[in-house]
Amino acid sequence: MTRIVSMTVNGEECELAAPDFRTLLDVLRNEGGLTGTKKGCDVGDCGACTVIMDGKPVNACLVLAVEAEGADIQTIEGLQHAPDRPHLLQEKFMEHGGAQCGFCTPGIVMMAKALLDENPEPSEDEIRFALAGNICRCTGYTKIIEAVQGAAEDMKKARAI
Ligand code: FES
Ligand code: FES
Repeated sequence: MTRIVSMTVNGEECELAAPDFRTLLDVLRNEGGLTGTKKGCDVGDCGACTVIMDGKPVNACLVLAVEAEGADIQTIEGLQHAPDRPHLLQEKFMEHGGAQCGFCTPGIVMMAKALLDENPEPSEDEIRFALAGNICRCTGYTKIIEAVQGAAEDMKKARAI
């Protein structure tokens, strides 16, 4: 059975058609046109599909779309402040070379966003632990960790002003 699921996506209320068995990932990509969230494994192993749901990071491939009824969803498309104004995390990934093919990057950035929202001054171990479920096959993790550390440092400086 196909239902109409109401949710807020990137600050906008929307209604998306979702068969009972369809995942949030598929509905966001296919019905919502939000293809920034990537489908890597589709079984919860890679983290490429990470979005923030009601303030918590989730693997969108493990959430049925109907479970998102009434939820507040943030995807990578909602992160930048304007088309020409990326989020600090996105800037830091570019600055540190933390993204190459970019397939894993949206999920990693969203996981990092969720981490910094909850813990603005994470240690390196805490960053590594938070990103443990996000697999990147290209860059290795050093530059990714540096990018998240750089964003955390800049946010700390901004708070001190
Ligand atoms: S696509 Fe969801 S964890 Fe891999
Ligand atoms: S940059 Fe992450 S898989 Fe290539």
